[in-house]
Amino acid sequence: METTAAKKILIICYSLSGQTSNLLARLTNGLESAGVTVTIERLRPVKPLRFPFGSIRATVIMMLLTFFRKRIPIAPLSDKCKGRFDLIILAGPTWSYQPSGPVLSLLDRDGSTLFANQTVISLISCRGYWRMHLIGLRALLNKKGASVVNRIVFTHPSREPWRTIGVFMKIAGRSPERSKFIGRYYPRYGHEKNQLEEASRFGAMLGQALIEGKDLASLNFQTPLAIIRGGSSNQAG
Ligand SMILES: Cc1cc2nc3c(=O)[nH]c(=O)nc-3n(C[C@H](O)[C@H](O)[C@H](O)COP(=O)(O)O)c2cc1C
Repeated sequence: METTAAKKILIICYSLSGQTSNLLARLTNGLESAGVTVTIERLRPVKPLRFPFGSIRATVIMMLLTFFRKRIPIAPLSDKCKGRFDLIILAGPTWSYQPSGPVLSLLDRDGSTLFANQTVISLISCRGYWRMHLIGLRALLNKKGASVVNRIVFTHPSREPWRTIGVFMKIAGRSPERSKFIGRYYPRYGHEKNQLEEASRFGAMLGQALIEGKDLASLNFQTPLAIIRGGSSNQAG
């Protein structure tokens, strides 16, 4: 890898409820503080998705469809994705143990053009069950000719079973954090402040490694702050 020219990273992302976006904002700060040029491309569903889905029925249907990898059609990518990047970060949430619908559409339509012979790191935001998503995503990226060298995973910090109950209620449009009983165990939806700080640290570490031409596979992103051992977060998914 060349070390003299400015290093360029393309981040391609989808975020429905803002969690991946929050992590990426901080990761990008870290990368830029290290001197890396970051280009961000957000995937835009052709028919915008509403969060929350608004009812338990709509949530269950969406969970079933996404388990079977339903694609969500996306608008064409912007021209800023053209050209050569030192690294692409492909980021998005876990949906029913799978990559999200917009990311699957991206891989179908643009995968070979974007990812052939390209170094890639995947970033996942999820409540806790990410392993199947990661394995599936890596296989799809490998098929497109990418070299997936590492992964960044952030899980929600609440303990089980409250994390699963809380996320489900939140997606359905309820406010579990305001419930007298559930709120005691589920204070908020999504990632917490110290995880966002960890994302910033990861960005600086990754940027530095890229600039110094270090092996990106050797970077440790699997820290207790990122993958929180709440309930069964590290075993399942
Ligand atoms: C339809 C749907 C299915 C989900 N399935 C899972 C899952 O299987 N495993 C998991 O850990 N989280 C699951 N989640 C939770 C999201 O991955 C999590 O809330 C994530 O932080 C959302 O990121 P975003 O705000 O960037 O969209 C699901 C969320 C939705 C909307």
